[in-house]
Amino acid sequence: MDSRRDFIKKSVIVGAALCLPVSLTRESIAAYPELKTRDPKKVLILCYSQTGHTKRYARLIGCILKDKNIDVEEREFKETEQSILPKYDLIFVSSPVFYYDTPSNVVDWLEKIPAITGTPVASFVSFGGPEGNQHNASCHMLKILAQKGGVPVGRDAFRNIPTYPTPNWDIANQKSGEHLPNAATFEQVRRFTEDTLQRISRGETISIRYEFALREFLSVLPLVSLNKKVISKHAVEAQTCIRCRTCERKCPTKAIHPLQQIVEKDKCLACFGCLNNCPVGAVVMEYGGKPLYGFFEYLKRKNITIMEPEEFKTCV
Ligand SMILES: Cc1cc2nc3c(=O)[nH]c(=O)nc-3n(C[C@H](O)[C@H](O)[C@H](O)COP(=O)(O)O)c2cc1C
Ligand code: SF4
Ligand code: SF4
Repeated sequence: MDSRRDFIKKSVIVGAALCLPVSLTRESIAAYPELKTRDPKKVLILCYSQTGHTKRYARLIGCILKDKNIDVEEREFKETEQSILPKYDLIFVSSPVFYYDTPSNVVDWLEKIPAITGTPVASFVSFGGPEGNQHNASCHMLKILAQKGGVPVGRDAFRNIPTYPTPNWDIANQKSGEHLPNAATFEQVRRFTEDTLQRISRGETISIRYEFALREFLSVLPLVSLNKKVISKHAVEAQTCIRCRTCERKCPTKAIHPLQQIVEKDKCLACFGCLNNCPVGAVVMEYGGKPLYGFFEYLKRKNITIMEPEEFKTCV
């Protein structure tokens, strides 16, 4: 098995062909409560980011808002109590697209939030694409927020270098996105932020419409468990590990215990956060018998520097 894409193709091609054409099963919500404000003063930006792409966009949005004298808090989902959400005037939620959808740890977190009736909500995803079901993944988060009374006012998806590790990091999708994010990506983020604020000031909302996409079918398959079957090795190498515990901090499910060199396979979401972030290559993973190496090692080997937005020079 050469790549995840090949694996998925082999696993689902017959099923997907049989399914087409089929209408989407996830429903949209048509009516929202009244917006609680048209002039947000206190904004929360929630983020899940394994390798920094989503966090970069979240930070840029924060910079733009702070520049308008808006009070902004940027937080990671897992370090945030759901109970604080009702006190904000505007909530952004953000996540990478994993396995053609919103990662299950983000969905689980969002499903536990209290009522936020009338609060303007916006979502965005970062994705490795180009066809990664990014639209529907961002709608997925908005839909959960809307079910809790949130009022959707913005949605977008920003493409960048994929962080899904393949043995040589050289599949077509990885190569085509190698130069992203670029100036146009950051311009898209700025537009998204401004449009969202404008919409709120006009009292407008957006509808959550899932798009018809083949990837929508893929997202309903048990892709994480299918993929875990192809991961032929997943371990911590004691002699290489420097006990920095980065993998532990990055793991969304507490599945990895580097000091004991244990990975609890049943808890693992195959997000590759441990492999991608280990600074010394002590997380050893094989995919279909082929060794993998992490995202930051890939950037180093290919001499890739990720572009940062201008705002970061002055924004704190
Ligand atoms: C486990 C995993 C699954 C992924 N699945 C998808 C996908 O289905 N569609 C897509 O467009 N990108 C996919 N990607 C790429 C990420 O969405 C993309 O690189 C994202 O920007 C990573 O964000 P982060 O740096 O904030 O973690 C995947 C990456 C990983 C690690
Ligand atoms: S990130 Fe790597 S070096 Fe750090 S504790 Fe985990 S396995 Fe060890
Ligand atoms: S142990 Fe599994 S869930 Fe945890 S970071 Fe590694 S790949 Fe992700």
